[in-house]
Amino acid sequence: MSTKTALITGSTRGIGRATALKLARNGIRVVVSGRDTQRGQEVVEQIRSEGNEAHFVRADLRDAQSAVELAAKATEVAGGALDILVNNAAIGAGGPTAGTEESTFDAVLATNLKAPFYLVANIAPAMAARGSGAIVNVSTLAAEVALPGLSVYGASKAALDLLTKSWAAEFGPAGVRVNSVSPGPTRTPGSEALGEYLQLLAAQAPLGFVANPEDIAAAIAFLVSDEARFVTGTVLDVNGGRTIV
Ligand SMILES: NC(=O)c1ccc[n+]([C@@H]2O[C@H](COP(=O)([O-])OP(=O)(O)OC[C@H]3O[C@@H](n4cnc5c(N)ncnc54)[C@H](OP(=O)(O)O)[C@@H]3O)[C@@H](O)[C@H]2O)c1
Repeated sequence: MSTKTALITGSTRGIGRATALKLARNGIRVVVSGRDTQRGQEVVEQIRSEGNEAHFVRADLRDAQSAVELAAKATEVAGGALDILVNNAAIGAGGPTAGTEESTFDAVLATNLKAPFYLVANIAPAMAARGSGAIVNVSTLAAEVALPGLSVYGASKAALDLLTKSWAAEFGPAGVRVNSVSPGPTRTPGSEALGEYLQLLAAQAPLGFVANPEDIAAAIAFLVSDEARFVTGTVLDVNGGRTIV
């Protein structure tokens, strides 16, 4: 069986990093990406120290052009074909709707929605031409329930979840599966700024605890694997049961 290659955006830390490590341990060649070259190289070194294969491609995903360039570079590094894409890179923005700067609104939509859109536009057609591929969009609990102060962030991810369904329908007949993973509160460098609110949020769910990045990576690893060959267009909640109460 030939080795598959995955591009994981935002894999220099947090959930993306855990996903890169997990997929690599599953025998997948990974392309690590993010803005911070040093942290990206450290992830690559860790993967290589475990005897697995990884490469780093720097990208600042802030518009269509940056997505087009990452798609091209990652495909080249992958040896001409990507089998898996994980759209994980995102930025959050907290605060009341009134007073939200237009530049903040535009930046959140650009990184969380526009970049995944143009990555898929530039990667999925080649997957479809080869007759197989798997894409996971990393969403959020805030796209499903109203979390005050997370309106723009939640809206960007709710739109991404709709794209999951659109793309599942568009590319499914060509053998490409597209799903979302929707994490609840997860302890990462990015969620540190939430302080005690992270545990308070977690306590609202039946399971009641804050996830580790590995808990989310496990769900992503399942959805990109052949074990999930009949699963497409779904949003997999990995949130301790928060959305059922
Ligand atoms: N943590 C949670 O509680 C939680 C809950 C629900 C959903 N999520 C979602 O899970 C995903 C990962 O979150 P996380 O908590 O692991 O975040 P994190 O710790 O802040 O990591 C974010 C990653 O994205 C990269 N990134 C950010 N902006 C970027 C840009 N403009 N271009 C390229 N890369 C960029 C960062 O790399 P560089 O700094 O190197 O650029 C980093 O590797 C996100 O989609 C987030 O919305 C997280």
